Amino acid sequence: MNRLQDKVAIVAGGGAGIGEAIAKKFAKEGAAVVVAGFPQDPVQAVVDEINAAGGQATAFEGDLSSQAVAEACVQTAVGVFGQLNILVNNAGTFPAVSELDAYPVEAFEYLIKNNIYPTFHMSRAALPELQKTRGNIVTAGSESGQMGQPMNTPYGGTKGFNHAFTKGIAAEQAKHGVRANCVGPGPIDTAWTHKETGPMTAEMEKQTTEGVLMGRRGTTEEVANVYLFLASDEASYVTGAIYFVDGGTTISKSGAGAQVPADLKKEPTGELDIQHNIGRQRPGTPGKCWSYAP
Ligand SMILES: NC(=O)c1ccc[n+]([C@@H]2O[C@H](COP(=O)([O-])OP(=O)(O)OC[C@H]3O[C@@H](n4cnc5c(N)ncnc54)[C@H](O)[C@@H]3O)[C@@H](O)[C@H]2O)c1
Repeated sequence: MNRLQDKVAIVAGGGAGIGEAIAKKFAKEGAAVVVAGFPQDPVQAVVDEINAAGGQATAFEGDLSSQAVAEACVQTAVGVFGQLNILVNNAGTFPAVSELDAYPVEAFEYLIKNNIYPTFHMSRAALPELQKTRGNIVTAGSESGQMGQPMNTPYGGTKGFNHAFTKGIAAEQAKHGVRANCVGPGPIDTAWTHKETGPMTAEMEKQTTEGVLMGRRGTTEEVANVYLFLASDEASYVTGAIYFVDGGTTISKSGAGAQVPADLKKEPTGELDIQHNIGRQRPGTPGKCWSYAP
């Protein structure tokens, strides 16, 4: 109940989805929270719910991809709560799905603006305050930042940026006592991963969820639990890490092969005279397994 007692946190993108869960989890653990998001996001509603439940929160509305707005957000935390201990870079978007040759250029630019700029500007603006408190940054990566994201290749690229950016901060800022880590969710039960509420097609939704070893989406609270650990003093020896919260997606064998048409699955004949590979016998020759004799 008090793992973040006396800490002040900013949760960027805190008005919806995973961010709402992080803001509420942090508040429950004693943190004072600045819930930050676009003006059209329900940030004030999240703040009201936290305060009504006995927590401490304040709202910040603005486009965090702007340097001036990001700086104002950090100043809100310091002005209202007196310090800043934790920055959560959770703001992000997932605007379109398409194979790359038809991927809308505007969607690519929107991704760069909202998945990379807020992470850069918020981290840059927060560092002087985090250095004072020996604080930390936890940034939203993704399993797709490691494995790539078919049908939204630039999205995976923005998350790969966040992974490397975070490791760079960890290496650079350790001397100031500042830690930096990433959480890499797999498909989480937010608007993005449902064809009814996000840009995913039925086929992509099926492929995405079938790639999860656990066979289901994660909940936003399951992701918030890991943010909490990394942001807390319990993770005092963890920096530069990416914690995947993906139900095993990163290590699973994806179902992409099922989409390959039969003519592309035909194996090449090759030119070598292969004689001793059990899987490559010439028709009519008796099989022999060299490594296992039943
Ligand atoms: N949902 C998933 O399956 C999933 C998987 C992997 C990673 N993630 C990452 O987790 C984070 C949250 O995802 P979510 O599914 O909860 O999304 P969401 O859309 O529910 O919440 C993201 C919030 O960030 C806000 N935001 C985006 N750009 C902003 C900006 N420039 N300024 C201020 N606010 C901004 C959005 O308006 C939104 O309220 C994202 O960074 C995403 O990349 C999500």
